[in-house]
Amino acid sequence: MMNRGNEITSDMDPAFLLAWHVEMGADEAIGFDPVDRFTAPSAPEIRMPAAPRPAAADGAPRTVADIVAPTVPVAGPRVIEARPVQSVIGAGPAEAVRVAASCNNLEELRAAIEAFDGGTLKRGAKCTVFADGVPGAPLMVVGEAPGADEDREGRPFVGASGQFLDRMLAAAGLSRQSNVYISNVVPWRPLGNRTPDPAVIAMCLPFLMRHIELAKPQALLLVGKVPTGALFGSDDGITRLRGKMRDITAGGLTLPAMPTYHPAFLLRQPAQKGQAWRDLLTIRERLTL
Ligand code: URA
Repeated sequence: MMNRGNEITSDMDPAFLLAWHVEMGADEAIGFDPVDRFTAPSAPEIRMPAAPRPAAADGAPRTVADIVAPTVPVAGPRVIEARPVQSVIGAGPAEAVRVAASCNNLEELRAAIEAFDGGTLKRGAKCTVFADGVPGAPLMVVGEAPGADEDREGRPFVGASGQFLDRMLAAAGLSRQSNVYISNVVPWRPLGNRTPDPAVIAMCLPFLMRHIELAKPQALLLVGKVPTGALFGSDDGITRLRGKMRDITAGGLTLPAMPTYHPAFLLRQPAQKGQAWRDLLTIRERLTL
């Protein structure tokens, strides 16, 4: 690392620069794609009014050109064009379909997802969050994507919303220790905890479908709009979709799927807990425990 007093320079050790940014409070990425800030600047011309022309000495009427002062270019701020260095998607959905189909059990699928080129999404996450609970359990819960807590621990739903989910499941006689298996549509934490975009979901969906097929649950509980939209192929909001169970087909497996509210939403909107509770009891009736 080069040390030039307090100056931060681009030839410094990247690990040092990262630590410095975190110390300065810049610990959240604001875009999915890294941006090459060193690409050639394009400075738009900024024009300032020039000095007005003096009035004509002979008292002749001034023309529009006399009144509307001409402008002169001035040096403007440098505008750096934000150019993504690489796309979000690494190997892409077609490769995900091929890789997922080649997995014959859950451990192979986990290893395949861990080895998969998930592009900038995967590179932005600390780890691949595959699943938790009992493989082969009668109920499989599908969430959206890991958050910061899950990314740190490598297990889905371990933060505040996960703890609430566990309490709801326990009240219905269900738990990830005995009869529930839990995963997400997206196995990597999206930068800034943002909602996964359609391209990301399209890349991850083949893995989820194969995951369901290999885990062989009797029924699915889809928590929130993202898993419901992905598995039902719907753009409708969760308020419209929740409580309306449908059969879905994952490979050779057809099973009922119940959409309900995401536990994080229920923590913010406790008045909706009753509806989510009804959804849970409805899908529970479809289980042979
Ligand atoms: N929210 C989700 O949808 N999944 C998790 O694993 C954690 C929070």
